[in-house]
Amino acid sequence: MATNRTFTMIKPDAVANGYIGAILNDIIAGGFKIVAMKYTQLTTESAGNFYAIHKERPFYKDLVNFMTSGPIVAVILEKDNAVEDFRTLIGATDPTKAEAGTIRNKYAQSIEANAVHGSDSDENAEIEGNFFFSQFERF
Ligand code: TYD
Repeated sequence: MATNRTFTMIKPDAVANGYIGAILNDIIAGGFKIVAMKYTQLTTESAGNFYAIHKERPFYKDLVNFMTSGPIVAVILEKDNAVEDFRTLIGATDPTKAEAGTIRNKYAQSIEANAVHGSDSDENAEIEGNFFFSQFERF
């Protein structure tokens, strides 16, 4: 089942700018089904753990500060080829490089405040979904 799922967050910039509805619309129009969804806010500890892979990168501290700056929406999505297709739907990390019509192209502010997260592998999609949702919430 994991190969048909991915995990996304609508990040604090997009929530603060009022884009939750527009982004969910684009996701659903892109053929994804919402499997689990939660409106919450990360703590320094939880954001630090979520992005632990980037701990040595120069942008890590700023990223953790940004990701804890306001509420986010965490979502597990289902679709054939979910991980790859979702990364195509959101576009490049840097919104100035994201293709026209992609979610980051339309709604992101900067490489840091880039509107949405998308898992980069089936394995990470499962780890990230499990990070936010209990087994009873991701049926
Ligand atoms: P990364 O995994 O490289 O990108 P993606 O989210 O497209 O998989 O980076 C994770 C997040 O780290 C990215 O969404 C925003 C932040 N980030 C920065 O703030 N500055 C940077 O230079 C990079 C590469 C990423």
